[in-house]
Parts: sequence; structure tokens; C-alpha cells
Amino acid sequence: MRIVEIIERKRDGKVLTKAEIDFWIDGVTHKTIPDYQTSALLMAIVLKGMNLEETTYLTEAMVKSGDVIDLSNIDGIKVDKHSTGGVGDKTSMIISPIVASCGGKVAKMSGRGLGHTGGTLDKLESIEGYQVEIPNKQFIDQVNNINIALVGQTGNLVYADKVLYALRDVTGTVESLPLIAASVMSKKIAGGADAIVLDVKFGEGAFMKDVDSAKKLAQTMINIGERLDKKITALLTNMNQPLGYHIGNALEVYESVKTLKNEGPKDLEELCLVASGYMLLHGGVVSDFETGYKRAKTSLEDGSALAKFKEWIRAQGGDTGFMDDLEGFIDAKYRVEVKAEVTGYVNDLKALELGMTSLHLGAGRSTVEDDIDMKAGIILNKKVGDKVEAEDILGVLLSNEPITESHIKEFKDTFIISNTEVDKPKLIEFVL
Ligand code: URA
Repeated sequence: MRIVEIIERKRDGKVLTKAEIDFWIDGVTHKTIPDYQTSALLMAIVLKGMNLEETTYLTEAMVKSGDVIDLSNIDGIKVDKHSTGGVGDKTSMIISPIVASCGGKVAKMSGRGLGHTGGTLDKLESIEGYQVEIPNKQFIDQVNNINIALVGQTGNLVYADKVLYALRDVTGTVESLPLIAASVMSKKIAGGADAIVLDVKFGEGAFMKDVDSAKKLAQTMINIGERLDKKITALLTNMNQPLGYHIGNALEVYESVKTLKNEGPKDLEELCLVASGYMLLHGGVVSDFETGYKRAKTSLEDGSALAKFKEWIRAQGGDTGFMDDLEGFIDAKYRVEVKAEVTGYVNDLKALELGMTSLHLGAGRSTVEDDIDMKAGIILNKKVGDKVEAEDILGVLLSNEPITESHIKEFKDTFIISNTEVDKPKLIEFVL
């Protein structure tokens, strides 16, 4: 088999065979196919697409390219949750303890942030002592004993995705439905999940800009899951504005704890309860979604989800003292309140640009090697649909480095304020 012929066939819109896809991914994994040929094939896939069968073969080949985690020593059905990435998306830190406190098994592997989107591991590392790398035995024992563990992906999980993602990032080939679907699903399957709840984001701050393409992506991932015998539910959620009011690492831990204390934003809470309800259903803890939702809500109301959060953080070496002084936990060296110059209604709040402002304040990385400032980020005071009077505080910028006029301008520009009154956007568009 020759890779150049596979590239030509995809260029001409042909359907690739399983053998051809296996040959390509094997060559990526063993470095026998050079990056320039892989990049050409990636671009051909972006332009000509892949059908469901090809996307499933690609997913399977990618799973086989690295370690596959064996969770068979954990009793019960292992349910995972995955978000396709957004700004202010802190749901894993809320949903995981809710589900665990209701009896679900959460053996979760998360990633780091890159670009405008944050990563759960970075956020958890803002808690002193929290260990994202623990021995495999401890991971399994912890899930068996307290129902929850959250660690970083092992270095070799879906090796081909690491190579492909790095190439996609620099060759304009990230936004492709089959490539995203295979990248996400291969990691979830190699991570050992029996069932998965997907949070598929659409909008300005997401990879899929409109609901229809997000719906197609969700349906493709559901179909791949069915073929590979995994139960999947997908929530289609709005990422035209950030999730919640806090963006940044310590700031998102803060808002997660607030939500677990029943003091968080209601739309964020609702998304977490819906996702938890489906995780409990797929995990076999309850037999219908409504019961799962109610169990999740009770665990928030009676404090058991908050207690589980504490137990989990301590089990992984974290110091939970910060929970007694949450305001102190988010205290940064520099803090600037940014005020509105006009009166009106917030018509738009650009999620992607807010993610970039937070990154420029120090909360994210531009390259994988960059250090991040755990305290840097943004607290929003106004969101889409809110009325604003001139001089009202739009938000607060935080950083351990000096905050400049350019940060302030960048932040102000993310707000589109006009005299037109607009409704608050619905967060969960629908469930597939
Ligand atoms: N998230 C992933 O893991 N992979 C993609 O390709 C896009 C989002």
C-alpha cells in the first residue's frame, strides 16, 4: 500500500477502506509516514469528509495507537463525560462529585487547556497539593472506595491523536467533523468508559459555530458509540457566551465550589444536573433520567455532593482549607474593575475573545511549555440580556502581573451593548 495513493483517493472524494485507514494511522504511530503526507491527507479529509464507517474505522485505529486503560477492576459501569471545549467550562468539577455522591463510578481522565479554552487539570492544580498523576492502583482503589478519581491522561493514551492534533493545529485542519469525532471518541474509549455523556458546544467560543454542525457532530459521535457498544447521550449547549461568571483556573474552582454550595449561577447548575442525571442513568444507578436528575438535585441540596468534592480533593493530596476562605483563594495581586461607558442591554458577549483576554492576563498558555498564573482571569458582572447603566461594573480583571490598558480594552470590546432588549439565551438547546 502507498500513502500517496490513499491521499489521491481521498482528494478525489473516494471512500477509504479499513485497511487504508489502519495503514495510515499505523504509519503515523510508527513515524513511517512523514508529516507532510499526513497533513495532505488531513486536508483532503477536511475538504471531502468521511462517512460514518470511515470515521468509526479511524476512531478504532486511533484507540489502538496507544495505551488502552483497563478499568475492569472497578466494580460497576464506568461513565465518563466529555465537553468539546469552551470558555468558563468548569462542569467536570461539579458533575463528577454529584455523580459520585449518588453512587455512580467516576474514573475520569482530563486534559490541559490550550488556546482560548481551559483544561480541568490546570484548574485543579490551583488547589495546593492536588496530584493529577497518581499510580494506576491508587486510581482504581480510589474509585472503588470513594467512587471518584480525576487524573491526567497517561502519556501514551491515543498516541496518534497527539501527532494528528499538533499537525491539525498548524495546518488549518482542526474544524472537521470526522476528525473531531474520532479524536474525542478515541480518547474516551481508550480511557475505559462504558458510557459517555457528551457536552457538544456550539457558538462563537466553540469549534462548531452553529447548532446544525454541532448536531451533526453529536450524531456522528453517538453513531460511533453505538457501533462500538458504548451508550452515549449528547447535550447541545450554547457557547456564544462563557459558561457561568468566572473564567480562569482558581476562579473556576471557586465557582464550582459555590455551585456545590447551592450559591452558583442557575444555568450552570441546571446543565450540571442534566448531565449528572444522564450519567446516573447510563451508570445503571437509576432506571430513568427524571430519577437521576432528582437524585443529583438532592445531592446538591443536602450537601452530599459538596462533601464528596472535599473527600475527593483530599484523597488526591489537595488541601481543602481554601474552601473555608473562598474569597482569599481568588485574591490576585492586581485587580481592576471595568465599568460600562454606555447605558443599554448586553446583546452579545464574545466568548472566544473573552477566553483570549483571560489567556493574555496569564490564565492560559500560548504554547504547551508556558507557565500559567492560577489566579489570573475574569469575573463577569454582566451577561447577555442584562441591563447595563453607564458606570456599572461589567467585570473584574485579575492577574499577578500588572493589568494594562490593552487588557482593559480587549475586555470592553467583548461586550456589545445596545438599546435593543434581548432575551437571555437558553443554555441547553436540546438533548440527543
Ligand atoms: N476536542 C478534542 O479532543 N479533539 C478535537 O479534535 C476537538 C476538540
